[in-house]
Amino acid sequence: MTTQRPPLTAASVTLREWSEDDAQWYAESTRDPAIQRFTTESADLTAEEVRAAILALRASDRPYAGLVITDVTIGERLGNIAVDDDGEVSYWLAAPARGRGAATMALRCLSDWIFATTDAPELWLRVHSENTASQAVALRAGYERDAARDDETVVKGESWSRIAYKRSRPPAAAEAITP
Ligand SMILES: CC(C)(COP(=O)(O)OP(=O)(O)OC[C@H]1O[C@@H](n2cnc3c(N)ncnc32)[C@H](O)[C@@H]1OP(=O)(O)O)[C@@H](O)C(=O)NCCC(=O)NCCS
Repeated sequence: MTTQRPPLTAASVTLREWSEDDAQWYAESTRDPAIQRFTTESADLTAEEVRAAILALRASDRPYAGLVITDVTIGERLGNIAVDDDGEVSYWLAAPARGRGAATMALRCLSDWIFATTDAPELWLRVHSENTASQAVALRAGYERDAARDDETVVKGESWSRIAYKRSRPPAAAEAITP
């Protein structure tokens, strides 16, 4: 399906595949209150569970479905970005990595790459209605509101009202030319 493989680089971030060495960092990062409040990450996720998930991902035919966001210059881990089989994207940044555009750049980079290397018609994401930081990320990365996918659900025992965003496949160069 893809000719090019990660790592992918855009502006100040590089997206690379997860390795077992990242498991401890991933598990510890998810203890952050904002990640607990606004993502489905379990409150008691262990490094062993993450390691098993990474091995399963790497053995799959879509190892790029989950990538670690890193700083382009020093390779420091910044966060996680993933896309499932239905084109739903999810992401988080470790607390110290926020406020410098890393999530926006990662979302834009992964989305551009998926449209360039697969025939996916659309990508989309759902955000807790109180998660204004993530809503801003979606808009900055070129996503638009997708009210048809808004929903109410229960996550970790709490009722969540989620609002959705989508980014449609850009027209191919030839189609974009209007006579
Ligand atoms: C949602 C989340 C990823 C957003 O992180 P973030 O740091 O606000 O987003 P970005 O990395 O795009 O950074 C944007 C900030 O950097 C600033 N910035 C600096 N340079 C920038 C650049 N080149 N491009 C974009 N923004 C830039 C923006 O002005 C913005 O600052 P502000 O918060 O003061 O308005 C983060 O809050 C998080 O991980 N939350 C917990 C988990 C979560 O909610 N995940 C999403 C579930 S849907």
